[in-house]
Amino acid sequence: MNIQKGLKGVVVTETQIGEVDGTEGKLIYRGYDVRDIASSYTFEEIAHLIWYGEFPTIEQLDQTDFMFKKYRKLTPVMEKVLTSLPENMTAMSVLRTVLSAAGDDTFINKPSIEEAIKLTAVIPTIIAYRFRLLEGKVVVPPSKDLSHVENYLYMLNGEKEAEELVRVLETYMNLTMEHGMNASTFAARVTASTESDMVSSITSAIGTMKGPLHGGAPSEVINLLDELSLVDNLEEHLRAKVQSGQKLMGFGHRVYKTIDPRSVAIKNLLISLVGKDEWLDLALKVEQLALKVLQEEKPGRSLYTNVEFFAAAIMKAISLDPSLFTPTFSASRMVGWTAHIMEQAEDNVIIRPLSKYIGK
Ligand SMILES: CC(C)(COP(=O)(O)OP(=O)(O)OC[C@H]1O[C@@H](n2cnc3c(N)ncnc32)[C@H](O)[C@@H]1OP(=O)(O)O)[C@@H](O)C(=O)NCCC(=O)NCCS
Repeated sequence: MNIQKGLKGVVVTETQIGEVDGTEGKLIYRGYDVRDIASSYTFEEIAHLIWYGEFPTIEQLDQTDFMFKKYRKLTPVMEKVLTSLPENMTAMSVLRTVLSAAGDDTFINKPSIEEAIKLTAVIPTIIAYRFRLLEGKVVVPPSKDLSHVENYLYMLNGEKEAEELVRVLETYMNLTMEHGMNASTFAARVTASTESDMVSSITSAIGTMKGPLHGGAPSEVINLLDELSLVDNLEEHLRAKVQSGQKLMGFGHRVYKTIDPRSVAIKNLLISLVGKDEWLDLALKVEQLALKVLQEEKPGRSLYTNVEFFAAAIMKAISLDPSLFTPTFSASRMVGWTAHIMEQAEDNVIIRPLSKYIGK
């Protein structure tokens, strides 16, 4: 019996949604190289592309925009749950719990684009509501006029943000909407394959995204950089970590065996946004040294910078609280998750692998 631990190298389905080319270092959404579209299209336009397979016409975009604005409000059940959760619950657990409370009758339908928009539109509202509640600030209801990303920042900060800042966050979110058969997308597809509903599939995905080896990495990157900001010999410190078996957060990838194209795009965006800055200088220095150490300590493993390393930096540069990093990543990945759930439902076979019994 051939066992592929972690399903390494196993192809579980065909997909028309996206392709991660780990050898060439390319990420494709519906035929488009993400580097060519991430900074020149809006979140709504790229979401439309991922859901429908084509960029929208003006009329179609109006309709998608309209739906995003229509579904931003929390349902009464979601609001009730949000206000009853303990303060020490992490943002991702809150997101998982509140979204799961969306599983009332209005949401339990066959997976559809309308349902995908409903869920994608409401996520920023859940994140911002909880954030302001914890900060002891008045909750800001969603605006009916702003774009998806503008509205997210508006609900978090209580004022309309500068266009440049919105574009930076939007570019990051556009770069991270879809990423092939990553762990959380697979989790969503497994749940969808049982003919369960979209809310349950997304709840599975959020629970998977939360882990530090997947979407939880950006906060760990900040911890790593904070720790390194206090030491003199960076290289020695990084080497000691790797030698003691620790993973350097923000490096390595299951599929990319070359540079993660998203990390390059985010790094360039960051350099143009921040310019000269002590913290960014540290991040750039740590990246170079970490790559050197990984090459020397783990030869032949092809370990490069992944999206999370600079994602953490970009979110810090636009003053997003670290507790919001993984929820923000999830808010953009909602588009990929929902697209995969619909694709799974279209030609469904229940996902049910085998295990080899080695017990008594
Ligand atoms: C992403 C990740 C989970 C991929 O895991 P994977 O495909 O199972 O790869 P493996 O864990 O088998 O790694 C292969 C080898 O490289 C090492 N390695 C992988 N990532 C490493 C890292 N970030 N730091 C140090 N060593 C690393 C492993 O220890 C292993 O070494 P070994 O051959 O001596 O046992 C892994 O690289 C990781 O944990 N990275 C850090 C977390 C992170 O940044 N996650 C965000 C991903 S977008």
